[in-house]
Amino acid sequence: MKKYFFLLLIYISALLPSSGQSLNVANLHDVALEEMAVARDIKLTGKLEAHAPWSKRGGTDWRQLRDCCCALRHLDLSQATAECVPANALHSRHHLQSIVLPQGIKEIGSQAFFSCDSIEEIIIPASVEKIGQSAFNLCRRLRKVVFEGAPKVEDFAFANCPLLQDIVVKDSRPKFSVLAFIGTRSIYEEDLMALDTLSSSPNIIPQPAVVRRANRLPLDWADLNGIKADKALSNEKRILEAILRESTEYSGHSLAGTKGVASLSIDPSLSDPEAYVLDADMAGLNIRGGSAAGVYWGIMTLRQLLLDSNGSSTRRYTLAAIHIEDQPRTHIREIMVDPARTFIPFDDLKALVPLLAQYKFNALHLHLSDDQAWRMEVKKYPLLTEVSSVRPAMDDMLTPSPGYYTQKQMKELVAWGEQHHVMIIPELEMPGHEVAAVHAYPQLTCGGKETPLRTICGVSNELLCPGSAFTLQFLKDVLKEYADVFPCPYVHLGGDEAGQPPLGSWTECPDCQALKTRLGISPVNNRADNWRLQKYLFDEVITYLRDDLGKTPMYWYEPDFKEIQPGSVTFAWRGGQTDAAIDSALKNKVKVMLCPGDHCYFDYPMAPGDMPEVNWGMPTLSLKKTYALDPAFGRDAQFEKETLFGVAGTLWSESINTPERITYQLFPRGLALAEAGWSPADRRNYDDFLRRLRPHLNDLQRRGISVSLAEEK
Ligand code: ACM
Ligand code: ZN
Repeated sequence: MKKYFFLLLIYISALLPSSGQSLNVANLHDVALEEMAVARDIKLTGKLEAHAPWSKRGGTDWRQLRDCCCALRHLDLSQATAECVPANALHSRHHLQSIVLPQGIKEIGSQAFFSCDSIEEIIIPASVEKIGQSAFNLCRRLRKVVFEGAPKVEDFAFANCPLLQDIVVKDSRPKFSVLAFIGTRSIYEEDLMALDTLSSSPNIIPQPAVVRRANRLPLDWADLNGIKADKALSNEKRILEAILRESTEYSGHSLAGTKGVASLSIDPSLSDPEAYVLDADMAGLNIRGGSAAGVYWGIMTLRQLLLDSNGSSTRRYTLAAIHIEDQPRTHIREIMVDPARTFIPFDDLKALVPLLAQYKFNALHLHLSDDQAWRMEVKKYPLLTEVSSVRPAMDDMLTPSPGYYTQKQMKELVAWGEQHHVMIIPELEMPGHEVAAVHAYPQLTCGGKETPLRTICGVSNELLCPGSAFTLQFLKDVLKEYADVFPCPYVHLGGDEAGQPPLGSWTECPDCQALKTRLGISPVNNRADNWRLQKYLFDEVITYLRDDLGKTPMYWYEPDFKEIQPGSVTFAWRGGQTDAAIDSALKNKVKVMLCPGDHCYFDYPMAPGDMPEVNWGMPTLSLKKTYALDPAFGRDAQFEKETLFGVAGTLWSESINTPERITYQLFPRGLALAEAGWSPADRRNYDDFLRRLRPHLNDLQRRGISVSLAEEK
């Protein structure tokens, strides 16, 4: 209780304008976490290292300034020494208002101040030779930049800074990339005009099944006389219209009086509801889809055809004649986000949906509760959000993460997802990862123990008690409310990491023992007996889900969990155990979602030293490794057709502490996964993917979306 009170104080002091403390020290190494958490004015005078031994708690001064000094407003480094401001040094520190940079630094790394949107003015010392990509991208309040020297300023370095009017250049002009100020102002318009904007070959991700340049005259956007669409495609028509008006010379009325139109239609003869065929030439644009989803994916492909090789948004006059035939290799392409550990504000969550759809992901999976917090309104159990929706801290980051979604918001998200053909899959964990529920309703756990919310990463031993009648009722009630909000046919039931040792807390519990006796679970050994008890709990919940709510259950595969009801979906997540998970799926006649940690865990850093550079010991996951995922995992065509459900990427958020860092972890690896899940095996090639990737990374940065630029070492 005392700890929560202290954390509450930190939270309040971070919000108040004038409270908080000053720190004037050489380095942060010896400063207590509690002091760091409330310091608003910090002056460092020592030597600032760019890199620290990786994967250890603590980290460099830069890392602690960013992640642990959550009240920081003013940072004075005028008397500190440093070689550089490293990449991502103060990424998305929204409260930081001013910084005096160390003299003598040579470089400001990429995204060093990405989305530091309270900074109004910055002086770049004369010693700086280079300002990296997106270094100040999305600094929405930045008004003035003084260049004391003439550094090289890379792409998007000052993109999306709408108030930036005052650029003071001292003796000689910095060497600005032509994309340095995109989305900010066209100070060097003549440079922008000179851009080579037409890429010669299409840069589509995921790679379509068939792309042919047609030997016909190009489509002239100004010649199009409107958009014709089947009645069922009014949503897709609206989306196409918005894209054409933003990116082309299309006006809806051809001044030349030609008859060409854009036409959208459903063609049930196509091989898959998500398949589409796109044709463009001087006669017009034609997109046919197996369903509205197929038409929508065709429009997403068209959007990519309008991107130029720099990702810039120059309006297009023409589109070279082209023919594309396409369909997905796997049926579900999913990204999982974790608002339980770090809350994702509703608008940021919504913004993810069209971003995923752009790359033909069709599912967003919400990990809505865990040991650290509960994020979803449940009307029958109001304490879940009243007492369990503020995660007090996470490891050395004493920053509370408050927030939950109302059912009304989630219905809005579902409707938004439907517009973009992205279904929203809710997850309710059982029987582990449920401390937030237990904290609110202690009668859910063995012995009714009072249990605090977890403030560190890792797994709690506190489980739901299957022997308590309240537990089953609670799960059914919550699932009923979820079913009323989320129309998607799937519900994820968790099932992972239930206790260390597995399910140990059930061994001592008289209610669990009595249940075992009632169920005739004859003692073998505690571990085996407890897993049979877990099977009982899953069976009860699955039967209710299937028979009463008409839903298909999903769960995280665990090797101890030998049997599951046919018709479910298992998630193969444990690195190195994918074959075992697939064998188990085949034996149990369930489908399998591929999300092995060694290809799909995007919460892992992309390279040593990349974010999160301080974590619980995660391995790295390179872009190349993600790209290498074979969704069939070497199995035969029958497996691919009958058992493979899809691919999923996860973004567990113990170490992702701002919404901007979600996209940083997601891109570019999410694009590699999109291609693994969608494109035919014989159309995939890593070098070609890298060639196609650059315009997409540029497009994302141009729009103020953070992406990892870490190089593979
Ligand atoms: C998991 O990563 N615990 C499913
Ligand atoms: Zn129990």
